[in-house]
Amino acid sequence: MRVDKMIGNSNLDTRKNIKRNAKKGGLVINGQVVKDTSVHVDPEVDEVYYMGELVDYFENIYLMVNKPKGLVSATRDEDEPTVMQLLDDFYLSLDLSIAGRLDKDTTGLLLMSTDGKFIHTITSPNSKIEKTYLAKTRDKIDQSLIEEFKNGVYISEDNYTARPASLEILDDRLAKVKITEGKFHLVKRLFSNMGNEVLSLKRIAIGNLGLDPSLKEGDYRELSPNELSLFGF
Ligand code: URA
Repeated sequence: MRVDKMIGNSNLDTRKNIKRNAKKGGLVINGQVVKDTSVHVDPEVDEVYYMGELVDYFENIYLMVNKPKGLVSATRDEDEPTVMQLLDDFYLSLDLSIAGRLDKDTTGLLLMSTDGKFIHTITSPNSKIEKTYLAKTRDKIDQSLIEEFKNGVYISEDNYTARPASLEILDDRLAKVKITEGKFHLVKRLFSNMGNEVLSLKRIAIGNLGLDPSLKEGDYRELSPNELSLFGF
């Protein structure tokens, strides 16, 4: 891996500063001053010092979890069981955060990571990353909702107009909904403010990353490099 990536991933500095400081002699690899920050190193083997400090390389972890019902999307909770109980000891020893919470009764794709930048990319209010849900409803879904969702539904309890959402009706009481915001209970509220009710909700994708169909509820795995690259990581 490039040495600037290794230093950057260890949260020691920004790429720009690393480049500048390396030019001034702040980068030493295996005892040699190196001014080119694009050189490749093996973090397991090479000894890298940046600004006099040994770079203790830490590989970020990115997990895809298929969340079952009944667990809250939190790393700790006083009263309720959390998704952390799905993870084994190795992952529990890490400082994981959740990228975009799901309600206790919502199932499906939940991302967790040790990488703060990744969490921010997914959850920042400015992020326009689409989250895709399958919603089963109490009543037949009216065709007119497609237009209503597209125009932005008024959420009365928050006195707020939701961003345009896409609605694809798959069956009388089943729809695919795509939203770009992480507001509390948003999918449920889109339907309830249109006089219907969501009976069950499953997140099936975040951006272009789909929930792995081979992952059973309660299972999880690390993201592949290809999957990570979907988010520019
Ligand atoms: N919208 C909801 O209503 N619930 C979720 O868990 C996610 C989106």
